[in-house]
Amino acid sequence: MSKATPIVSQKILKLNTGASIPAVGLGTWRSTDEECYNSVKTALLNGYTHIDTARIYGNENIVGKAINDYLKETNTPRESLFVTTKLWSTDCMNPEKALRASLERLGLSYVDLYLIHWPIAARNGDDLFPKKEDGQRDTLPYTEWNYVDTWKKMQLLPETGLTKAVGVSNFNVAKLDHLINHPDVKLVPAANQVEVHPLLPQVELVEYCKKKGIVVECYSPLGSLGAPVLEDEFLKSVAAKYDVSPATLAISWAVSRDLVVLPKSVNPERVITNIKVIDLDAKDVEEIEQYGEKKNVRVVNPDWNTPYSIFEDKPDY
Ligand code: A2P
Repeated sequence: MSKATPIVSQKILKLNTGASIPAVGLGTWRSTDEECYNSVKTALLNGYTHIDTARIYGNENIVGKAINDYLKETNTPRESLFVTTKLWSTDCMNPEKALRASLERLGLSYVDLYLIHWPIAARNGDDLFPKKEDGQRDTLPYTEWNYVDTWKKMQLLPETGLTKAVGVSNFNVAKLDHLINHPDVKLVPAANQVEVHPLLPQVELVEYCKKKGIVVECYSPLGSLGAPVLEDEFLKSVAAKYDVSPATLAISWAVSRDLVVLPKSVNPERVITNIKVIDLDAKDVEEIEQYGEKKNVRVVNPDWNTPYSIFEDKPDY
């Protein structure tokens, strides 16, 4: 196996709107305050043009400050960056209002992509995690308000100019299929951001999305907290063949599959290395897919107090 030198990813994918989306972006979940500011700034100064945030991360103001400082200090036009934020479940009935509030916090006049964060509806209010008396999450019944109702409002947002594109997150095949075949749905989501890494390759979902022209964005590409993907012996051995780190292997594997990948780091050195990728042999890409399908390790699976896990192959919850 030839050794490979990782280089800054220049790969761009196309959304169904015709817009370009850089394949590698910076994830910012669990990045707060000063460390978040520094990681976004470090990323932008080292080749990243794509930043991903969400209302629920509580960092839109810091992310926005880092972006605006960078644009000003380097005299870079806003259009050269791709910025994503997400609609929180308690805002499901009024996405436009929620998007305006996100833009206010970001200090931006538009985002490039606005996603339904979870296929879940919750009552609006100050509490972002409303609970029932028994302490369980107070998720609205599917029949009262659901992701199709939310999407009917989301699909109107590109016309406002507040976002260039709209998409979803944490949707499985059953929900996507139900959504795009619904008679009131006019717009196919531009992207679906889901947990994907070498221990959870999501082969069926990726194939489905590619067929429908929906770009898949991989969150937690290293397995999130503790980065368990980096400890896997098989993946370590593949990384060693190329003489790269397991992190570079995992990120390059997503890029080689024509997916968007959003590694998160608050460590400046890791931020800088995470955008440097190598080309993987198709055989290795496939072998890792097959290996991961057997492992099937899902790290992010919150209990929404729905009748069954929202990742089950069902169109409602
Ligand atoms: P840190 O922020 O301290 O760098 P994911 O992208 O899957 O959410 O994983 C992120 C986790 O992996 C974070 O805890 C992050 O910690 C760590 N991480 C990010 N990049 C690397 C890297 N190149 N090598 C090792 N750990 C990393």
